[in-house]
Amino acid sequence: MAKVLLALLGVAVVLKVMNTKPPSSLEPAQDSIPPPPAPILTEEQLTEQTIEAARREEWIWKDFPIHEGLTRGTSNFNTCRADEENCNGRPPKLVRYDGYKHLQEDPVDIVQCIGPRGLPINESDEDAIWAYPAIPAGAVDPSMGSYKAAGIDGSISFDRIGRFQAYGLDQFDYFDPEAERKASDVDWDKVKWGDLQDECANANRLRFKPVKERTDNSIQYSNIRQKHDNSQKQPPTNSMDAGRMSKVKRTAILIRVWTGATWSADAVMNIRAMIAEASLASGGKYQVFVLLHVKDEGIPIFTGENQPEETIKKYVPPEFHSITEVWNHAQLRTLYSNMAEHAFVGRSPWMIIQWFARNHPEFDFFYQWEFDVRFTGHYLDFFEAVSNFGREQPRKGIWERAGRMYIPEVHGEYNTDYRISTREEDPHRVWGPVSVEGVLPRGPKPPRAQDEDNYEWGVGEDADWIGFLPSFNVTGTNWWFRDYLWGYPQGRSTPRRATLIAQGRVSRRVLDIMNYENSENGHHIDAEMFPQTMCLHHGLKSTSFPHPIFADRHWTPEALQSTFNGGPFGQSGGHWNSSFSKWNEFAWTNMTWYYSSQQAMPVYQRLLGITAGETGGPEWEDAYGRTVVRPMLLHPVKGAKAAKWSPEGWKHSMSGK
Ligand SMILES: *[C@@H]1O[C@H](CO)[C@@H](O)[C@H](O)[C@H]1NC(C)=O
Ligand SMILES: *[C@@H]1O[C@H](CO)[C@@H](O)[C@H](O)[C@H]1NC(C)=O
Ligand SMILES: *[C@@H]1O[C@H](CO)[C@@H](O)[C@H](O)[C@H]1NC(C)=O
Ligand SMILES: *[C@@H]1O[C@H](CO)[C@@H](O)[C@H](O)[C@H]1NC(C)=O
Repeated sequence: MAKVLLALLGVAVVLKVMNTKPPSSLEPAQDSIPPPPAPILTEEQLTEQTIEAARREEWIWKDFPIHEGLTRGTSNFNTCRADEENCNGRPPKLVRYDGYKHLQEDPVDIVQCIGPRGLPINESDEDAIWAYPAIPAGAVDPSMGSYKAAGIDGSISFDRIGRFQAYGLDQFDYFDPEAERKASDVDWDKVKWGDLQDECANANRLRFKPVKERTDNSIQYSNIRQKHDNSQKQPPTNSMDAGRMSKVKRTAILIRVWTGATWSADAVMNIRAMIAEASLASGGKYQVFVLLHVKDEGIPIFTGENQPEETIKKYVPPEFHSITEVWNHAQLRTLYSNMAEHAFVGRSPWMIIQWFARNHPEFDFFYQWEFDVRFTGHYLDFFEAVSNFGREQPRKGIWERAGRMYIPEVHGEYNTDYRISTREEDPHRVWGPVSVEGVLPRGPKPPRAQDEDNYEWGVGEDADWIGFLPSFNVTGTNWWFRDYLWGYPQGRSTPRRATLIAQGRVSRRVLDIMNYENSENGHHIDAEMFPQTMCLHHGLKSTSFPHPIFADRHWTPEALQSTFNGGPFGQSGGHWNSSFSKWNEFAWTNMTWYYSSQQAMPVYQRLLGITAGETGGPEWEDAYGRTVVRPMLLHPVKGAKAAKWSPEGWKHSMSGK
């Protein structure tokens, strides 16, 4: 019965996706260039056929055996030695996990910071996160991407106690607010995450690149002001030899939230984890902000007497007030007055980040981070892996590698086999800026001809764009927003790349170019193809992070390749039947990372001890032990836990709704 319902649900999702229309107020680029080669069938016929096929379960992957390897129980750890008698397979001991494994700097150079319990986090076990130094039996490997290629620690796994105890997990297991308050060792409402982050960054300032202040009059509309104390004090540790150390570049993580968003318990714990693990544990290399989109333009957020504090209080839990920066659309229309009609959030979230970057000279890199994304591992390990990957990739072949889903079983090792095979099969070899009418490239020129380069150019250069799915060739695909670009003389034949899910890391360098193209040239491009397309046009460094993506079933390598890299020369884009074309996105349904994923939420819920799809939750855990997961990036996870914050306090509901 449940199966039938879920199957129906699956079809409903396809129908829903297919019926979703892009915002109607938009006019995509028009021009006289003929459209891409027509498919054998019309789009409508294909759509119909696809729905039919979904009903008849004709997708090639439909019959692949489903596994239960995304979430395991602690009883699945095989910890018994062969000679051990009466062993009941107790899980291995949890170990303190500080996320320093892939840190670019030497951790001894970090001045340790104070955590939410008022203690230096390196000296407090309550503030730590705890991992199992093992992988439970039956846990599957990712189908696409890999721990090794991404540089994420894949040798560990987590349960909710080790992962979230430090962040107030207990707080949400009581239905009586008083009992809850007594049970919690931290009064979370009193924590000022902004102050903790600022003090941390300040204590570590000698590690950072000196900040070039912007003149005051160029700063507009900002309620968070950074005080930059550049005074040189005595270095606090002897290992801090200012001359010897290369200065650390800082990264801002901007979480996109809106007025009326639901702050469920898991969303709150997630941001606590990001701050503690990425920002405090790194000694301020990363800093987390909430970018609150105030939807009601009638609120005078920058001039009202009690603003923006009133608005922030109403929509954001107290502990995050000090990291919240407000904005609205009216502000964007004013900032980019020359293209006011395109300044709408759904498709232009970068404008606000371009503005943020101008106000915050202390950062070199910026994440646009979605509110409903979760990482199940340690955030510092994740962010450092992204940065390392981007820095270490050579420029040669980088666009071609990033233009595919990396499938280890098909492609082999990322930095050897995959380099060679993409080069052999793909005649497109982007090298430096591609030429585009009306664009004067602003990035670096290639130092030598491509054939004379032995994968040297770009190694050690920080990437300007790092996305979490391929940067695919949009031309020829039927991706929803493929024609959302304005002001380009070449119109639809403008070369461009897109990365679905507008989440990724941008450099100040590419943001400056995006700002320049918007403001000076009147060029604008859809959210999911703007930074990567700017890299393409201007010759900047752009890549795709091959993080582990899991499937709910055992796909064959051939099926993965034909479905996700079905384009010319093994690319994921560049053809009408791409997996990003609207009728084909169904293939992503049960992958752990896609905007329409149905697997992300159940995995996270089971990790939190909630039953999802007949697995996980109290009864299941009685039999198998606490749920354990490997580090993975999940999207979307909306309201995984029932407790929700409101200005009156936390509201719990038994039903889980
Ligand atoms: C996705 O997973 C659910 C739960 O395992 C399953 O019932 C459903 O059929 C799957 N959907 C697709 C499209 O594979
Ligand atoms: C914590 O870090 C400080 C320096 O920031 C150091 O003096 C101290 O010994 C560390 N404590 C532990 C337990 O490692
Ligand atoms: C289009 O792609 C889907 C998914 O990979 C596949 O099932 C289908 O056969 C393809 N259609 C054609 C006409 O190639
Ligand atoms: C992008 O795709 C189009 C359509 O397949 C193709 O004509 C073009 O050469 C591709 N460009 C690159 C750089 O792959």
